[in-house]
Amino acid sequence: MNYRHAFHAGNFADCMKHALLVLLLQALARKPAAFSVLDTHAGSGRYDLGGTQATRTMEWRGGIGRLLDDPPPGLPPAYLDLVRQAGAPDIYPGSPLVTAMMLRPQDRLVCCELHPEDSQTLRALFADTPQVSVHARDGYAALGALLPPREARRGLVLIDPPFEQPDEFSRLAQGLATAHQRFATGILAAWYPIKHRAPVRAFLDSLRDSGIRDIVALELTLRPPLDPTRLNGCGLVVVNPPFGFAEAALPALRALTHLSPDGTGAATITRIVEE
Ligand SMILES: C[S@@+](CC[C@H](N)C(=O)[O-])C[C@H]1O[C@@H](n2cnc3c(N)ncnc32)[C@H](O)[C@@H]1O
Repeated sequence: MNYRHAFHAGNFADCMKHALLVLLLQALARKPAAFSVLDTHAGSGRYDLGGTQATRTMEWRGGIGRLLDDPPPGLPPAYLDLVRQAGAPDIYPGSPLVTAMMLRPQDRLVCCELHPEDSQTLRALFADTPQVSVHARDGYAALGALLPPREARRGLVLIDPPFEQPDEFSRLAQGLATAHQRFATGILAAWYPIKHRAPVRAFLDSLRDSGIRDIVALELTLRPPLDPTRLNGCGLVVVNPPFGFAEAALPALRALTHLSPDGTGAATITRIVEE
């Protein structure tokens, strides 16, 4: 448990993940029926961009900092509105806060965070929000234990692991298989890093062979993924994408290519398995 998200909050990868999360939640909110969100690797919920950890890397400057200074056309306006409302550029909201801000009275959010300090911070953040519950437990194990959601038949599962372990891609594929087994109609979204192509290709191939249907992969690279020591881009795999999601996501991803320092950024949406 060495990973602390505060070093990376608001970087390009967070912007990509959270802009797409907003689009997924907007799609769920189109129907009045309640939905439930399970955030398996939730983090601490809000990050002080002037704090020691964020200041050490300054990653947010190349991410949300640039988007706020000069918003590129195509970015979902709701994402930037929400980030500003959460306190940017002083504070950046993590995925549980982004979600909580978009819940309606009938919806629920369940968060898992294993780091003791971060789960405590998250619990304090939502102490007065009965719609949100926080578990200090293993998010992968929660996929088997907490799905299908009790409160609603519609919902989203976000799996956003730290990729500290060498076998994280296979744990992620296994996590998606478990989530799909327990909640076949749910929208499942899983984030992954793109350092170089080979591990990503193997991960997507394993999903092709998994028997799960209706999968798309959305990817943003800031530069060609050739140097395996750098985070050159990231992706979000979505199982059961809502109607119209890919069409709404493409302009958002294209807008985020503006974050490429040398203009070699690229955005792609690939269908991995047909419906
Ligand atoms: C990439 S960060 C999450 C960021 C958050 N989803 C967001 O977008 O704001 C990954 C988080 O997972 C936590 N973590 C690591 N292993 C875990 C596990 N097995 N179960 C739950 N949380 C875990 C880490 O402490 C870290 O806070």
